[in-house]
Amino acid sequence: MSGMTLLVSDPDRYHDVYSNGFARIAMKETVLQEISQYFDEHVMTKLTGAFPAEDQFNLLGVGVGEGHHEQHFLKTLGSHFSSIMNVAVDRNEHLLESFKINACGSTPDEKSHRDMQWFNGTLQQFFDESPLANCKYNLISAIYSMHHVGDIETTFTRLASMVKDNGVIIIVLSESTLVEETLLQNTWLPASYGTHEKLTKEKVITFAKQRGYTIDVRKMNIKWDLTDLFEEKSELGDKLVDSLTSVAHFRRTVPAEKLNELISFWRSFCSNGEDGRLYAPADDVIITAST
Ligand SMILES: C[S@@+](CC[C@H](N)C(=O)[O-])C[C@H]1O[C@@H](n2cnc3c(N)ncnc32)[C@H](O)[C@@H]1O
Repeated sequence: MSGMTLLVSDPDRYHDVYSNGFARIAMKETVLQEISQYFDEHVMTKLTGAFPAEDQFNLLGVGVGEGHHEQHFLKTLGSHFSSIMNVAVDRNEHLLESFKINACGSTPDEKSHRDMQWFNGTLQQFFDESPLANCKYNLISAIYSMHHVGDIETTFTRLASMVKDNGVIIIVLSESTLVEETLLQNTWLPASYGTHEKLTKEKVITFAKQRGYTIDVRKMNIKWDLTDLFEEKSELGDKLVDSLTSVAHFRRTVPAEKLNELISFWRSFCSNGEDGRLYAPADDVIITAST
């Protein structure tokens, strides 16, 4: 079907959909809390056991967006490691700009020296163009970005080659059945990856195990409030439709009959909450790979 623009190809709409749409329904505060707690209790134990506090600590963030998670990682790391270099990669300049503003506003722990490096471009461009792609990292984070950055096998293999011995890769994925099935069953969507694709979670775990990594998997109990998706005149609903289909301005571009099919399909995933709103499970998972 022609006339559809991939959401990532429209940076302004992407920013709006992500920050003012998806972020509003995705229990972002709970997600931040759960990932932060997991990081502080599990990942920090590994990192502080593996690396001396006075060594330079390198963190690479892939698809950082506004960097809420990386900011938390930096804060906790700064309480132990004396010198930290953070490299933040994201293709969306608006989101990266918010990260920069937030990072400037926060006061780093006085004991720790922080060097922030920004790369506005795709991960592939970072690999191809940045000398920082030749560094070794103690920690690599890809929080809700692995689906977007390219072929999982190539990406994981390349990232794994950039981790120091005893380093950690932390990946958070939203394996929402609703999104997976939307893209699997509707091959006319430009972001559809065909009908036989394996879930990213299984791929990541398989590749990491094949490369000798120890894997830890933690499920998060996150639900999306999709009530507005079913309101015809809701702007928030328009943004949610865009984020579920990965198409910019989907409601304006696609024939009503296609939209209605998808709306009924999405409705079948939802259940009523006690507050009368409609919720679908997000099936979010934290995966860490370490040697
Ligand atoms: C779902 S958002 C997650 C943002 C952030 N990590 C978070 O958890 O809030 C995905 C991010 O990946 C970025 N992104 C998408 N494709 C990318 C690519 N090829 N290379 C680098 N970043 C990319 C987007 O701009 C966006 O900021």
